[in-house]
Amino acid sequence: MKPAVRVVDLRSDTVSLPTARMRKAIYEAEVGDDVYDEDPTVKELERRSAQMFGKQAALFVPSGTMGNLLAVMVHCSRRGTEAIVGDMAHIFLYEQGGAAQIGGVLLNCIKNEEDGTFDLGELRNKFRGYDVHESQTALVLVENTHNMCGGKVLPLQWLEDLSKICTERSVKIHMDGARIFNAAEYLKVPVSRIVRDVDSICFCLSKGLACPVGSVLVGHNDFIKAAHRLRKALGGGMRQVGFLAAAGLCAFDEIVPKLSKDHARTRRIAEFIQSINSPLFKVDLENLHTNILMIQILTNRITSCDFERRLIEVLPEELEHGLVDARGNGISVKVSARDWSFTRIVVYTNITDEDIDLVIRKIKYVIEEYHNNEL
Ligand SMILES: Cc1ncc(COP(=O)(O)O)c(C=O)c1O
Repeated sequence: MKPAVRVVDLRSDTVSLPTARMRKAIYEAEVGDDVYDEDPTVKELERRSAQMFGKQAALFVPSGTMGNLLAVMVHCSRRGTEAIVGDMAHIFLYEQGGAAQIGGVLLNCIKNEEDGTFDLGELRNKFRGYDVHESQTALVLVENTHNMCGGKVLPLQWLEDLSKICTERSVKIHMDGARIFNAAEYLKVPVSRIVRDVDSICFCLSKGLACPVGSVLVGHNDFIKAAHRLRKALGGGMRQVGFLAAAGLCAFDEIVPKLSKDHARTRRIAEFIQSINSPLFKVDLENLHTNILMIQILTNRITSCDFERRLIEVLPEELEHGLVDARGNGISVKVSARDWSFTRIVVYTNITDEDIDLVIRKIKYVIEEYHNNEL
């Protein structure tokens, strides 16, 4: 018989589940047809979002991918324009090249530094459009926090310097702020401060904020007006969508104030891995900012897929060695293998201190097993 298993899912904060309070808010939401502009809860979410981010207007959209695509298409609406983007950015790596596929916009890549920024000197040289052969740079895309750079928060000074360069060239800046509230928690500043120097931002409700669906695009009135029109063309006009907006409003009050707990719990896992001084697994504790932890694998004899598989498995000998939760269930930990040498862990509101204890025990067991076999 298969043992009973307790699963702790740290693959992504997108797997977070709505809280009881959020479910109640969804149930009780006042709704109307939002395509007719008649949903009061959506309007309230958009009003609060614009106000919080210190911009003129906001638009509820079904996903971060759609919000980013709308931003690219509006900022680069002239044919023959391009957007410059970091080579580790979600928009470049994981949105199917929608900018090109759907928007007809060229993405011109610049190398991301480990901290999620890119070299501003190099950026100056990347701007194009002086010559008839070239597409014209209309937009720069940044990501904050930076997912593939391990949840890093972009330095405010860097954003200010970037903005000066872009203003000189009349180039706009869009921030993929899927996890912007995590950045605000880390910097201890309001989100409006972080986006002060950018033209538009898209933040997600369905990642660390635990909502079931949705993102919000924020920016200038004219920008949002154009995005609103395009959203309909992309099939993103939704009807009684206040049910989803209600979850977002609840998240502002219930989840955002607690994000520091996710960061502290992520840090506990990182501190543990650092403390065992493994020759095979490494974390960069000093540069851990938010709720995303990258575990680096230092040997090519173990791939991140091997590590991922082993953490999910519950072997009979683990149970014999007492690797179980308080109810006697085996422990299965889901993580995300990123490339051969990195495994990503993401913590969110439904993950408890007890879950973290179990994760640490499982990682300890598996790493010791590797040490015994490998060394
Ligand atoms: C940094 C970043 N941007 C954008 C997205 C896209 O969001 P969605 O899955 O809602 O399309 C994600 C999704 O994980 C993300 O991590």
